[in-house]
Amino acid sequence: MTALLEIDGLTKRFGGVTAVDACSFTVPAGSVTALVGPNGSGKTTAFNLITGYARADAGAVRFDGAAVRRPDPIRLARSGLTRTFQQARIFPDLTLVENMVAALQQPWTSVFTRAVRRPERERALELLDEFGIARLADERAGNLSYGQKKLLEFAAVLMGDPRLVLLDEPTAGVNPVLVDQIEERIRELNARGLTFLVVEHNMNLVMRLCDPVVVLAQGTKLAEGRPDEVRNDPRVLDAYLGG
Ligand SMILES: Nc1ncnc2c1ncn2[C@@H]1O[C@H](COP(=O)(O)OP(=O)(O)OP(=O)(O)O)[C@@H](O)[C@H]1O
Ligand SMILES: [Mg+2]
Repeated sequence: MTALLEIDGLTKRFGGVTAVDACSFTVPAGSVTALVGPNGSGKTTAFNLITGYARADAGAVRFDGAAVRRPDPIRLARSGLTRTFQQARIFPDLTLVENMVAALQQPWTSVFTRAVRRPERERALELLDEFGIARLADERAGNLSYGQKKLLEFAAVLMGDPRLVLLDEPTAGVNPVLVDQIEERIRELNARGLTFLVVEHNMNLVMRLCDPVVVLAQGTKLAEGRPDEVRNDPRVLDAYLGG
């Protein structure tokens, strides 16, 4: 299987802490790849390095066969690589539709003031409908539940028709009905060709949804393989249980 994303020797230090330590792994094209590991093992930092929200001290990232020399969130989004955040980043004062259209100008640093054009609104409504929140299209996003905000952020990153989406704990703190909804969306989008790299603590979900699974501990890759291989790897059990 060809690799859509290749990470080689990625390293990031914060003072005395090496958050990501010479980490290498690949995300096969067409996969739902999991990135798992105990709290503080470097998963979000790895996402930040890959997507240009933090600068690596060492290492290389290749996306779709081409070196990403200085990862930049906007340029990467345009080339088809986008991500969500552990704490959903949405504009609480904008409507859901406005949030969706604002996502086209990732990262969401600039103030969104322009009018929503009709084709954009239609595309936004289509996606919101797939995510089961179209009835809330013109509500303030700040009124959404925690889980609905995560759905909105997930839907919004699809506005730019990405090829690879990095999801940072898409189901954490989300009620079971919305967890099913999120799983269903990942499956369906993946069946249509979208590749995912997912940070997720819900191991049941990882085991039935993801392949391969990459395991980090203290910034280092411990294991990478099929879910059943990884689950039975004693080093992985130690990392989780040993604390
Ligand atoms: N901006 C920062 N400054 C200093 N230390 C940081 C910073 N960001 C992360 N760290 C440290 O780097 C390590 C990895 O953190 P990171 O957030 O990447 O872990 P994680 O695997 O995403 O954890 P969790 O599962 O809790 O989200 C931790 O020790 C954390 O305290
Ligand atoms: Mg994290």
